[in-house]
Amino acid sequence: MSKRKGTTTALPGSTLTMGLDIGYGVVKAVTSDRVVTFPSVMGHARELKFQHDEIAQRHPGDQIGDDDGTWFVGDLAQAQLPPGELLRLRGRTANEAVMGNVFRLRLAKVAIGKLLQGQWNRDIVHIRIATGLPVDHMRDAADLKAALIGQHLIKTDVAEIVANVSEVMVMPQPYGTIFANTLTETGEINRHHTVMRTGVCDVGTYTVDIALDDDGEYVDAESGSVESGVYTAHERIATALERDYRQKMPFKLVEQVLKTGLFRAAGELVDYSDEVQEALGTLRSATLNLMSEKWKSGATVDAIYLSGGGAELVVKEVFAAYPQTILVQEAQLANARGYLNYARFVARQGSE
Ligand SMILES: Nc1ncnc2c1ncn2[C@@H]1O[C@H](COP(=O)(O)OP(=O)(O)OP(=O)(O)O)[C@@H](O)[C@H]1O
Ligand SMILES: [Mg+2]
Repeated sequence: MSKRKGTTTALPGSTLTMGLDIGYGVVKAVTSDRVVTFPSVMGHARELKFQHDEIAQRHPGDQIGDDDGTWFVGDLAQAQLPPGELLRLRGRTANEAVMGNVFRLRLAKVAIGKLLQGQWNRDIVHIRIATGLPVDHMRDAADLKAALIGQHLIKTDVAEIVANVSEVMVMPQPYGTIFANTLTETGEINRHHTVMRTGVCDVGTYTVDIALDDDGEYVDAESGSVESGVYTAHERIATALERDYRQKMPFKLVEQVLKTGLFRAAGELVDYSDEVQEALGTLRSATLNLMSEKWKSGATVDAIYLSGGGAELVVKEVFAAYPQTILVQEAQLANARGYLNYARFVARQGSE
C-alpha cells in the first residue's frame, strides 16, 4: 500500500535531506515532514487500453521514464503487470552490484518524485541522501554512492525535476534502527538512550538481520542475517489459498490475509487465522534461532530494538525469550528515520 502524506516544495537553493531504506520488499523514504513507501518492484510499462487516467490517479508517482524506457513501479506494477514481467531487487543475475544499483537508482528516483510531487519545469533540487545496505553488502557501498551521487533527471507522472544529489551516506542497514533510538530527529545525542550494548533485530521481507552495537562499536561476531523473512509466511498462505480456491492469489490479497487473518471469498469473510499462525512459525523460529546463535540467553545485551515490517509478527515470541526487547514505533520506518537522524547529526557536526 503506497502512502504519502502532504507534499513538500524544495525551496530553490535549499537542500532536501532524506532517509532512504531500499528493502528487497518495500522502499521507505522519509524527510522531516514526509513519508513515502511503495513495493520494490517494477516492470516495463504497458499500454493501458481503458481507464488510463483513473489508474494513474490511483497510483500517483508509479510511472517513470528514463534512458531504459518507461516503467511501472510499486503498486501500479503489482496491479497491472503479470507476475512474469515483475522485476525485483532480489536475486538479480550475475552482475548483482551493477544491476542492483541501476535498480536502486530507479527506485530512489521514484521516491524523490513522490516526495516532490507537483514540481515540474525541471527545477533543480539539491538532495542529501542517507541510506543503508545489508551488513554483508557493505563492500558495495562505494558503488551505491557513485550510482546515487550527481544530477538525475526525474520524469514521472507527478513530477519533472533535476535532482542534484550532492551527498550520499551509506551505513549497515541495522544502524538505521540504532540511530533512530540513539539520535534525535534534530541530530543530537538522545540522552534517554543510556544502555551500552544495544541489539537490533530487523524483520524484513526476505531477511531477518540482527546487529550488536557496543557503545558505538559494531560487533560483527554478534551480528548476522538469516534468509527467512516475512515472505516465508506469505508463500505458505499463498499455497493454502491456492489449495482451497484452485487459483493463484494476487500478492495484495495474500498480504491482507497475513495482516488480518481473514480472506474475503466471493464476498464472504473466511477465517484463516490458524493458517496464518502456522505460516508464521518459520519466521518466528528463524528469528529466535538467529538471536540465540549470536546472543545466547541475551544476558550481555542491554536493550534489543525490534524493527522492520515484520516486527509485530514476532514481537510476542521475541519478548518472551528476551524481555529487554522494545518494539520500535512504526517499526517498518525505523531504518529510514534513523538514516535521517544520522544525516542531521553529521550536518550538525559540520556546522558546530
Ligand atoms: N503491520 C504489519 N503487519 C504485518 N506485516 C507487515 C506490517 N507492516 C509491513 N509488513 C510486511 O513486512 C514485510 C517487511 O517489511 P520491510 O519493509 O521491513 O521489508 P524490506 O526492508 O523490504 O525487506 P528486507 O529487509 O528483507 O530487504 C513486508 O512484506 C511488509 O508487507
Ligand atoms: Mg529491510
